[in-house]
Amino acid sequence: MKFIKPAQQNPIDQGRVVGKPTTRIDGPLKTTGTAVYSYEWKDVAPNAAYGFVVGAAVPTGRIRSFDLAAAQEAPGVLDIVTYKNAGPLGLGDFNTAPLLGGPKITHYHQAVALVIAETFEQARAAAGLVKVDYARGEGVYELSDQKDSADPTDAAPDSSQGDFQSAFERAAVKIDETYETANHAHAMMEPHATIAVWEGDELTVWSSNQMVEWGRQDIAKTLKISPDKVRLVAPYIGGGFGGKLFVRADAILAALGAKLVQRPVKVVLQRPLIFNNTVHRPSTIQRIRLGASQDGNITSVAHETWSGDLEGGGPEASTQASRPAYAGENRLMQTRLAVLNLPEGNAMRAPGDMPGSIAIEVAMDELAEKLGIDPVEFRVMNDTQVNPDDGKPFSRRKLVECLQRGASEFGWEKRPSPPASKRDGRWLVGMGVAAAIRGGPATKSAARVRLESSGKLVVETDMTDIGTGSYTILAQTAAEMLGLPLEQVEVRLGDSSFPVSAGSGGQWGATSSTSGVYAACVELREKVRMALGLNAEAELNFADGSVSDGSAERPLTDALATGPLEAEGEIDFESRGDDHSYFTFGAHFVEIGVDVHTAEIRIRRMLAVCDAGRIFNPVSARSQVIGGMTMGAGAALLEDLHVDARQGFFANHDLASYEVPVHMDIPHQECIFLDGDDPLASPMKGSGVGELGICGVSAAIGNAIYNATGIRVREHPITLDKLL
Ligand code: MOS
Repeated sequence: MKFIKPAQQNPIDQGRVVGKPTTRIDGPLKTTGTAVYSYEWKDVAPNAAYGFVVGAAVPTGRIRSFDLAAAQEAPGVLDIVTYKNAGPLGLGDFNTAPLLGGPKITHYHQAVALVIAETFEQARAAAGLVKVDYARGEGVYELSDQKDSADPTDAAPDSSQGDFQSAFERAAVKIDETYETANHAHAMMEPHATIAVWEGDELTVWSSNQMVEWGRQDIAKTLKISPDKVRLVAPYIGGGFGGKLFVRADAILAALGAKLVQRPVKVVLQRPLIFNNTVHRPSTIQRIRLGASQDGNITSVAHETWSGDLEGGGPEASTQASRPAYAGENRLMQTRLAVLNLPEGNAMRAPGDMPGSIAIEVAMDELAEKLGIDPVEFRVMNDTQVNPDDGKPFSRRKLVECLQRGASEFGWEKRPSPPASKRDGRWLVGMGVAAAIRGGPATKSAARVRLESSGKLVVETDMTDIGTGSYTILAQTAAEMLGLPLEQVEVRLGDSSFPVSAGSGGQWGATSSTSGVYAACVELREKVRMALGLNAEAELNFADGSVSDGSAERPLTDALATGPLEAEGEIDFESRGDDHSYFTFGAHFVEIGVDVHTAEIRIRRMLAVCDAGRIFNPVSARSQVIGGMTMGAGAALLEDLHVDARQGFFANHDLASYEVPVHMDIPHQECIFLDGDDPLASPMKGSGVGELGICGVSAAIGNAIYNATGIRVREHPITLDKLL
């Protein structure tokens, strides 16, 4: 069905199940270790052999030759996949670098061989015997060195409004600062993993992937087979954060390996390989110029951003963060993309907005300071209900309410002024604020629902649950629509044989996939009406396992006299964006302590106040936001894939040296959602929050550090050496 705006009153509004705090229905499976992840399927391939990936030991160049003799003869080895026996491979729509390298090498740790053996240990031992002779090529690895040669890019076109230059020159108060953000790794808990099984020319892969249909298509394209011959199954995914939006080497090599040895093959990317073999969030350099009148009205905004990627890759589109953020008539947005020979850059949680928010939200703090205006008040003053970037009104923008509610809940009035004026024992204490802004996209999504004779309602869609709570919100949606208790709904996800959903990415998953289930349930409700001969004109009321048209009330099971009732539906958001701009908003507040002697930085408290219209499940939505806050804390204080420009790779490529926050780093977090709904957004009247939670966090932390110490660090992560 087409989404017609604004969404009218509909069964979801009853809020009997949707919107109620609900613990995730897949939780017990995960906490008891019974949820089956990609590498763990046993019965689908009891005789699976193990593949171990060998990554390139040079960042660019060519393979001159392999010496595979010792590996081939090692105990248990079945065979070895390399470009020499893999046959011609295509490049997936969503990949920049080939997933199997050779003879040309595109980046360090690009896969060059898969050693297949009877056991994992045998495959790993034999992989150590693979000898590759490389002709190492020349490459460039430092963004700062390539900045001046960076080009505009169609993927993020420049734009301007008004006359930035002269407005900025005339501005009474202004700042012109440059910010740097680091390369980040997704570091999801479950590594990329796949089991591949061929039956004739038909391939089934159990593969950890956020986007089942994109994955199916790209596997087919890479292997040069028809998509109809590929089935991708991914019911449980141990985190993705964008790193599993696209097919990676585990899937392609498992498929090639299974073909070569004529039996199922399973491949997990070993953790130290993941950082250079897969994708990362590219580092950025960003220049922000902001001009304001003496009384604090922003008149001019310029955001320029530089990032790098492999030839043919894409930019980190950081200006996204400034485009919709604040009023100001004279604007300049520029994106430049350099070619680097590092591993492939790609989407990581709130790509563009997340690093962009570090620049614009620290810049806002700097300008507020210069104006002598409180940074909460400064943001409130420069709020806009019309997106300055496209001229359309926001469907819903409660940024001011988020800021004000947060300020009052957090005790913002106790913020030390001037900076570096509050001590608590050995700690300097400060507070920081930043806005969180992230797009609220929606995209078409389909589902199938089936009322079975047992009374169970089965929902099937190729949607994924990457730890986000999709199972639960889809069950809530179906339960609400059919008037059934949650326990009577069974949700089946992550299988390309199910109707094609929006998938999990870009924060579009929650609103799109629930709307797809809503659409299917609308169809099913009509089938129930027909089966029971209910009044064709009347509004039906589904409640407590019964349906009523106002005059007659019948148990739902009466509709199943001739067997199960099944319906498919798809939601289509095609015209949604014609007259409105869709975003989600929030405000982050952080209290920081900095040790006066050692400059050790400790987060003391974090609060997020968020708004995305109706929140489908406050429990899983809160988990998304505090997860984003934690990841934002990582970016602010710890996370930095360090470029080794001699070797052309990320040097700290394991979880011992790529540091992410642990419990000790995050003592106290709170998340508050505003009430209300957004009938322009979707039939569900709300948007996802999976990426909102990370936007602005690192800026709020940086701003708190400034407030605590009086030291402004414009290069994230803010490690203690930068304060000394
Ligand atoms: Mo997200 S970076 O689109 O998984």
